[in-house]
Amino acid sequence: MQAEQTRRSAREIDQRIEKIKALGKRRNAIILAHNYQPPEIQDLADLCGDSLELSRKAAQTDAAVIVFCGVHFMAETASILSPRKKVLLPRLDAGCLMADMITAESLRHKIASLPPMPVVTYVNSTADVKALSTVCCTSANVVQVVNSLSADEMLLTPDRNLARYAAARTGKKIHIWEGYCPTHEWLKPADVAEARAAHPQAAFLAHPECRPEILELADVIASTSGMLRHVAQAREREFIIGTEQGLLHPLQKANPDKRFYPASRKMICKNMKKIGLDDVEHCLENLTNEVKVPEPIRLPALKAVERMIAMNA
Ligand code: 13P
Ligand code: SF4
Repeated sequence: MQAEQTRRSAREIDQRIEKIKALGKRRNAIILAHNYQPPEIQDLADLCGDSLELSRKAAQTDAAVIVFCGVHFMAETASILSPRKKVLLPRLDAGCLMADMITAESLRHKIASLPPMPVVTYVNSTADVKALSTVCCTSANVVQVVNSLSADEMLLTPDRNLARYAAARTGKKIHIWEGYCPTHEWLKPADVAEARAAHPQAAFLAHPECRPEILELADVIASTSGMLRHVAQAREREFIIGTEQGLLHPLQKANPDKRFYPASRKMICKNMKKIGLDDVEHCLENLTNEVKVPEPIRLPALKAVERMIAMNA
């Protein structure tokens, strides 16, 4: 009875996904989803990926409409790169707590307090913060971006953990902004010890947004898509995943013979879980929930994002 119900609801979800995909085609839309999105949203998307892959795709697509299933800064980045396209965020209230830890005004004050130096800004930031920055980076390319700058001293915003990780990997002097991702900050060494004790054969993969003491314990440090690539070619059969739990869906889907365990059950980003199939259908049907960055902010922000993309890192 229970199994029949589960099969029926799985079939219903598949039918809804097909219906929304067909609507997307009629609207000449591309649906992009971040690796942390709920399983049904990832299954619906034309492309899933990490922040770097999604920004590249947003820059290249010739679709008229981009439906961005992620959080607000991601839709803004797509709008920065594709000003003539309609960028829709199915839930406008899906924000990022880390991006909210820095404003253009507070960054202006910080820049004024330091000698002249480049400002490297994580893409997890608002468009007006990007507009004040020299270059953007993601968790996948931060080391290459920092190394590509001729300066040996710089400010990296807003993630203090990413900044410390980049400083350790490059040996450069990096001024830190005290921002962080609460979802990754949750993870403590005791959680990792507990997970390792329960799964002694498993490799531990950590995202650079985790605290430095967690990164010291990791077998591999990678962005979400970096973890997907690593697992695909790894000899190990079991993995403890130190990032938001949404990543377990694509990991399990792509590697049905391997086993994945969350490093902590608390690693869930509420904002990444807001979008449902109804929201995507509604915004595609009505072409609502547009995110558009005004030109005076878009143009300087574009320079910082394009400089990162041009590095091909
Ligand atoms: P990546 O997918 O680029 O690793 O990003 C992690 C993240 O926290 C996005 O909000
Ligand atoms: Fe922001 Fe963290 Fe959520 Fe990513 S997981 S959107 S960095 S709060």
